[in-house]
Amino acid sequence: MISSNFSITEYHDVKQVYDKLDKLVKQPVRPVSRDHMEIYLDYFDKKCPQSKKLIDHAVKYIPGGAQHNLAFNYPFPLVFTKAEGAYLYDMDGNKYIDFLQAGGPTVLGSNYPAVKEKAIEVINETGPSTGLFHEYELKIAEFICKHIPSVDQFRMLGSGTEAVMASIRVARLATGKKKIIKLGGAYHGWSDQMVYGMRVPRTGRFDAHGIPRACTRHTQEVYPNDIKALERKLRWNRLRGGTAAVILEPLGTESGTRPMDFGYNAKVRELCDKYGALLIFDEVVTAFRVGLSGTQGYFNVMPDLTVFGKVVAGGYPSAGGLGGRKKYMAYLAAGLQGAKKRAMVGGTMAANPLSSAAGYQTLLEIEKTNACARAGEAGDRLTKGLQKLIGKYKLPFVAYNQGSICHLETSAVLFVDVNFSKPWTLPKALKQIKIRKHMMEEMGAAYMAEGLVTLAGSRMYTSMADTPEIIDEALARFERVFQKIEGVNEQ
Ligand SMILES: Cc1ncc(COP(=O)(O)O)c(C=O)c1O
Repeated sequence: MISSNFSITEYHDVKQVYDKLDKLVKQPVRPVSRDHMEIYLDYFDKKCPQSKKLIDHAVKYIPGGAQHNLAFNYPFPLVFTKAEGAYLYDMDGNKYIDFLQAGGPTVLGSNYPAVKEKAIEVINETGPSTGLFHEYELKIAEFICKHIPSVDQFRMLGSGTEAVMASIRVARLATGKKKIIKLGGAYHGWSDQMVYGMRVPRTGRFDAHGIPRACTRHTQEVYPNDIKALERKLRWNRLRGGTAAVILEPLGTESGTRPMDFGYNAKVRELCDKYGALLIFDEVVTAFRVGLSGTQGYFNVMPDLTVFGKVVAGGYPSAGGLGGRKKYMAYLAAGLQGAKKRAMVGGTMAANPLSSAAGYQTLLEIEKTNACARAGEAGDRLTKGLQKLIGKYKLPFVAYNQGSICHLETSAVLFVDVNFSKPWTLPKALKQIKIRKHMMEEMGAAYMAEGLVTLAGSRMYTSMADTPEIIDEALARFERVFQKIEGVNEQ
């Protein structure tokens, strides 16, 4: 580790986490009891009538009634009108503790005043975009190069998805090889080639509806933490044109939901060097949340390319970028002075003054306030509190965290063993996924009715705005849900 200001104070016992998750997924689900669930669902009808009315109307014009994948849509999405620090407010005036934090970008807490003021200043001066150079492009690039150890140069793009696409293009140009290896279950955005093995390992093209087979022909997945499987794949590829890159989230797939063994990243680095593949770290969630030097700083393992998103624009739009060694970044030279062989990237709104300034100001404030470590303290307090409650009510649930990224697995839907090479096991596995996904939705709805916004009912991002008092209040609300789990009252 090369800096002490990380959000992770202690790396969890990965084996213990997996053992508990394995136990959880092998037993029948323990949802909220039916009577209590009805009362929770009543909350939405009784206390959120304006949201309900608006969403009923929205279904006519918006597919599914909401534009955002993270808009919690069970029983229907609520409409939020205010976000401030650790809190969200819906249009019916209900107040919630916000553990979604926009899906990760707001380490400082929502709508942080110094960032908002900078954004307004820029809008007053240039408007949000000009399509031309603005000094904040340079300021943010300089900051990132200074703090992220493997990054000599940075190109800002419109989203994490775009940055992943760019990283793969550069890797293929740099190596002259085609194959991309990802870890099963990882989300790296929604580009054609990356909709492969999403969420649950070994699911390959399960989600690739509307994507021609040719688009994923060079995408492969290996089981997370299985270093021998990775070497086998690299060796196999060597005889068939070679591997351009291995791409992974250093904390584990789905933002550490499936945690990485502490030494795994270093071993992957060695294998990439041995087989001439580039190592791409997808730090969309982790850069500037785990620490200013990212997870690469935390693990002290240097990738060739780093994908950025989320915090890089501080919760403002157009959050994406790619960084890396100069020799690789040369493929991304913009304008007329591009290298001969150029990786085509673009975006009308990429690196606009608003995103660049909001991102830069966010990073300055994170540095000034030590926000990553403070958000991590909140994450530790939340997780330890949840673990205590799980013990108190003798629940099979599993709580673990990597600093400010907290996981509360109650149904373990992502851990159902799906294996397409054993087709006879599939009906049972798919049925389990359906049951466990619904339980996760119900848990999210129960938390929401208790005034807690989570990511899909199983993940919580903490921020610097989460004081110990707020976390303790959140724990009291989680406890009210746990008290209503089937079987708890009979104990
Ligand atoms: C690890 C990871 N990579 C890539 C992406 C895609 O980023 P974006 O939503 O900005 O396209 C996400 C989004 O959540 C992500 O979590």
